[in-house]
Amino acid sequence: MTLQDEIRKRKTFAIISHPDAGKTTLTEKLLLFGGAIRQAGTVKGKKGGKFATSDWMKVEQERGISVTSSVMQFDFDGYKINIVDTPGHEDFSEDTYRTLMAVDSAVMVIDAAKGIEPQTLKLFKVCKMRGIPIFTFINKLDRVGKEPFELLEEIEETLEIETYPMTWPIGMGQSFFGIINRKDKTINPFREEDKLQLNDDYEIEGSHEIENDEAFQTSVEEFMLVEEAGDQFDEEKIKSGDLTPVFFGSALSTFGIEEFLDTYVDFAPMPTPRETVNEELISPVDDAFRGFIFKIQANMDPRHRDRLAFMRIVSGKFTRGMETVLSRTNKKTKVSRATMFMADDTETVNEAYAGDIIGLYDTGNFQIGDTLYEGSAKKVEFKELPQFTPEIFMKVSAKNVMKQKHFYKGIEQLVQEGAIQYYKTVHTNQPILGAVGQLQFEVFEHRMKNEYNTEVVMEPIGKKIARWIENEDVITDAMNSPRSNLVHDRYDNKVFLFENEFATRWFTEKYPEVKLFSLL
Ligand code: G4P
Repeated sequence: MTLQDEIRKRKTFAIISHPDAGKTTLTEKLLLFGGAIRQAGTVKGKKGGKFATSDWMKVEQERGISVTSSVMQFDFDGYKINIVDTPGHEDFSEDTYRTLMAVDSAVMVIDAAKGIEPQTLKLFKVCKMRGIPIFTFINKLDRVGKEPFELLEEIEETLEIETYPMTWPIGMGQSFFGIINRKDKTINPFREEDKLQLNDDYEIEGSHEIENDEAFQTSVEEFMLVEEAGDQFDEEKIKSGDLTPVFFGSALSTFGIEEFLDTYVDFAPMPTPRETVNEELISPVDDAFRGFIFKIQANMDPRHRDRLAFMRIVSGKFTRGMETVLSRTNKKTKVSRATMFMADDTETVNEAYAGDIIGLYDTGNFQIGDTLYEGSAKKVEFKELPQFTPEIFMKVSAKNVMKQKHFYKGIEQLVQEGAIQYYKTVHTNQPILGAVGQLQFEVFEHRMKNEYNTEVVMEPIGKKIARWIENEDVITDAMNSPRSNLVHDRYDNKVFLFENEFATRWFTEKYPEVKLFSLL
């Protein structure tokens, strides 16, 4: 098979959802479908909520999430599909956002009873910003949930995206009869074996007792309405993330999955090009191997410092032992230890292609955002990964004042690595850490102690609304207050940390001349 053929058959996506919507269950069923696992219950990494966050080390060790469930590959219909895990629950952190930088499409799982929940919304916004295709799976139809129209309306209004139902549910909960597949108007029954078909007048072909069922009739009428008045199918809009194909089903009952997969492989993109700092687009089918690091997983064994760096391959083919160059330092390295992750196993990678994600063993050479390219090829450097607006903050200081040097060195490295964000107050230079998830603080504290031999004192200052400033020259001392605390970020840009929405609004009304903006 040629390089182009290998790359064209790859599809790489992440599942975005709120905890408990069914991400783990769906992942597992997709893997079962693809023959990557033989029984349910193999996908680890769920139920972080059962552990206290301070136990993160133990948690990671126990479930082994770092290696077994980060990226999973399975085959379907001749395609190689990579699912990249988006850490959620107590693991929610900037890594979760950054994972979305490494995929070409996303699958949004929604609990039919709950609709759009906060974490889904946050992750959706990142996908939308990237303009990648988003597929929606509305889950748990075997239970009573919101009406399908209500769910579609919620998606359209909250997320500002058009919807195109590819399947339509008939009933729900106890009276969940099945789904109509819009493509050929076949009915896939939830409980019975025989497949039914609707004719052009939306009547069941042949006779069947369900025909006279009221709930069934209502669903068919709704379906007719969708066909007549719903958004038009538009492949271009799917590609640009402006229209989401919607599927109804029950992951737990392995129902609606095949309909989803069939459409997914038809419309999800092959690996997409990536832009360099020089605004050059690197095509995935370019011969030379190139990739970038989007996540670094610290080793769980305190006796070893080595870490696992996750790399998305952007172009060409990776082969074990190949000579590569790290763009940031121009340092040459031979990559002989790389792993790929199967559902319940890890494998040494001998070769991998654009679209794939592999784990590289790292002794501290890599940083998040780093570019790696084939030694013989022209130097490239991919655009930096975006910074995300942190939501929770902590004051931090070294427990032992004699350890200031270690303290600042540790902070500098962990910040560069993307583990945490660093700020300091404008006048007193008090260090403040920012994060999107609580776990980031726990990891920071632990790593400062273990890797930089520095115990830290952390004082929560809670949730804040961070806003950067377009026109810093208009800022005056009078604007700095406990409710609108002025700090510097690590690039010395000024940032206001507002106490809450109210304080933000009050400030913008009082100082309309200040132009505020948020990062992603
Ligand atoms: P997550 O990864 O998004 O957090 O969700 P997960 O798959 O762990 O699912 C959360 C809960 O919802 C699980 O129940 C799971 O069995 C259930 N679930 C997932 N899909 C469906 C579905 O289609 N229908 C119904 N009725 N339930 C579904 P749990 O009781 O919390 O966990 P478990 O003890 O069953 O593992």
